[in-house]
Amino acid sequence: MVRAAVPSDLVPAGPQPAAPRHVAIIMDGNGRWATSRSLPRTAGHERGVEALRRTVEAAGDLGIEYLTVFSFSTENWRRPASEVNMLFGLLKAYVQRDLARLKNEGVRIRVIGVRDGLPPDVAELVQKSEAETRENHKFNLTIAFNYGARDEILRAAQAYARDVKAGVRDEQITEAGFQEYLDTHGIPDPDLLIRTSGEFRISNFLLWQAAYSELLFFDVLWPDFGKAHLEEALRRYAERERRYGAVAPGAG
Ligand code: IPE
Ligand code: IPE
Ligand code: MG
Repeated sequence: MVRAAVPSDLVPAGPQPAAPRHVAIIMDGNGRWATSRSLPRTAGHERGVEALRRTVEAAGDLGIEYLTVFSFSTENWRRPASEVNMLFGLLKAYVQRDLARLKNEGVRIRVIGVRDGLPPDVAELVQKSEAETRENHKFNLTIAFNYGARDEILRAAQAYARDVKAGVRDEQITEAGFQEYLDTHGIPDPDLLIRTSGEFRISNFLLWQAAYSELLFFDVLWPDFGKAHLEEALRRYAERERRYGAVAPGAG
């Protein structure tokens, strides 16, 4: 007799709408964009911020509710200090320049990843951007900064264990209960995960949340990404059939 494991309590059972509610993007290829033009890598990161602005606007126009972007990984600390500092500076400049506009446009900003170790001025700005947009519901922009999925899962496990020990949580650990401890609590799982730059890997992004995401890989380098690519992504998504482990409707 085959024993049935408990199916995931987070995986939807019914058919999914043709348009994704939540799109996640690994914004990759800034360095190569710059190098191919004999420019310093930093120039690619600057142009990458422009692509981010375009993409946030396009996502809103196209009816996407949640956009999550990977902008600095826990492994990106392995890069030269000058590049790391520049990336921190760019995040700061982006929030400083765009916060008021995003706030007025109804965008809720969240930043996921480890806060410890961020320079105090960056941490303060991150906190401010979240606090000032907390009541917004029109569009959700989540920036994964100093983020690694394994680190996120480990921090969640540690927090869960602490709460069980303190008697706050039941010892019965469920998927839905565990999910509340992730940085992404309150955000639906991504329907579509895009990576630019032609690399076919996840690089420690949303490992828990992307369990059933549709994956799309674009050859375009991130600084060249724009609305047309996002529209193409939505077209390709609409052709996918999400089965969540079940049999396709109408199949033999
Ligand atoms: C993505 O571009 C930005 C970050 C990872 C911070 P890269 O800097 O990784 O660009 P490539 O992959 O080297 O071209
Ligand atoms: C992934 O890109 C991280 C971000 C886009 C922030 P990387 O360029 O760091 O990934 P690898 O090193 O090619 O796997
Ligand atoms: Mg890269």
